[in-house]
Amino acid sequence: MKNVGFVGWRGMVGSVLMQRMVEERDFDAIRPVFFSTSQHGQAAPAFGGRQGTLQDASDLEALRALDIIITCQGGDYTNEIYPKLRASGWQGYWIDAASSLRMNDDAIIILDPVNHDVIRQGVDRGIKTFVGGNCTVSLMLMSLGGLFAQDLVEWVSVATYQAASGGGARHMRELLTQMGMLHNDVAKELQNPASAILDIERKVTALTRSGTLPTEQFGAPLAGSLIPWIDKALDNGQSKEEWKGQAETNKILNTQTIIPVDGLCVRIGALRCHSQAFTIKMKKDVSIPEIENLLATHNDWVRVIPNDRELTVRELTPAAVTGTLNTPVGRLRKLNMGPEYLSAFTVGDQLLWGAAEPLRRMLRILL
Ligand code: HSE
Repeated sequence: MKNVGFVGWRGMVGSVLMQRMVEERDFDAIRPVFFSTSQHGQAAPAFGGRQGTLQDASDLEALRALDIIITCQGGDYTNEIYPKLRASGWQGYWIDAASSLRMNDDAIIILDPVNHDVIRQGVDRGIKTFVGGNCTVSLMLMSLGGLFAQDLVEWVSVATYQAASGGGARHMRELLTQMGMLHNDVAKELQNPASAILDIERKVTALTRSGTLPTEQFGAPLAGSLIPWIDKALDNGQSKEEWKGQAETNKILNTQTIIPVDGLCVRIGALRCHSQAFTIKMKKDVSIPEIENLLATHNDWVRVIPNDRELTVRELTPAAVTGTLNTPVGRLRKLNMGPEYLSAFTVGDQLLWGAAEPLRRMLRILL
């Protein structure tokens, strides 16, 4: 059995990973070692039924004893530990949720339902570093993989609707606190059907702008609003999140000719599902039934939602998808621009296929 170290297993992505690994009985197939950056020496969790002691996540000797390390600890940890570990000659497999190493030539972005061959070939030629993709990219490819697999995509324009969880646990708390404060402020008026809605709105807007809502995480109120910028600014006017769309999609697919992917990344008040609205320029005119068939048969998690109002409202929303591995795609229709222009809308849980699930599946590939 392989010795597998876990770092950052207690955080949000790490917790989802642990839950999925328990559900899939992954711990039965490994000897887990749990690490901590702050609480080493205390009792380790008993996932997999064995009780041990938390090891020090900065102890290179302890890390060097492992065959595989899975980290959800974040980029700072990766930047500090990974180079030292590799410099020491450690030849184990590093599986990482953070973005730091993603674009390195000796790292593969993992999303095996989409790029299993790229991963397999990488393992065979001795690649030892595997990194989960950006959540919007992974979720797009899970939903639209059938079109990319058939080389039907000329370019993609996207507008995202990204959940608070993409920022982290504190961002989710901040959003919910803002929601609660706004509601509390008008709760009495809301109960009175005779109260004027514009008076209620004015109170909510005034509180939103008052500076009293907590905004340390998002930098602006998100409840009842949105924020059309995610991550750092680049010199070309893109946000870093927008830049990742093309860079990571093409790396995951190992394309020989770059497929342009660009658009606007927007934070909205959903909790953990990212949604995306696409305009796709196809390389040729393919009928909608054929497109639906290609999409639906690409992997076990994609669900094609017919372009029907009732089904869309019921099944193509964060409320319906959160906490599931389903990656539905709907609103499929040809746009006025011409028969090669396709619209699509996707929804996916940002913590599952967007973060934790590709990591545990990579572990399985290595066992
Ligand atoms: N950067 C993403 C977000 C997180 O902020 O929503 C997942 O990669």
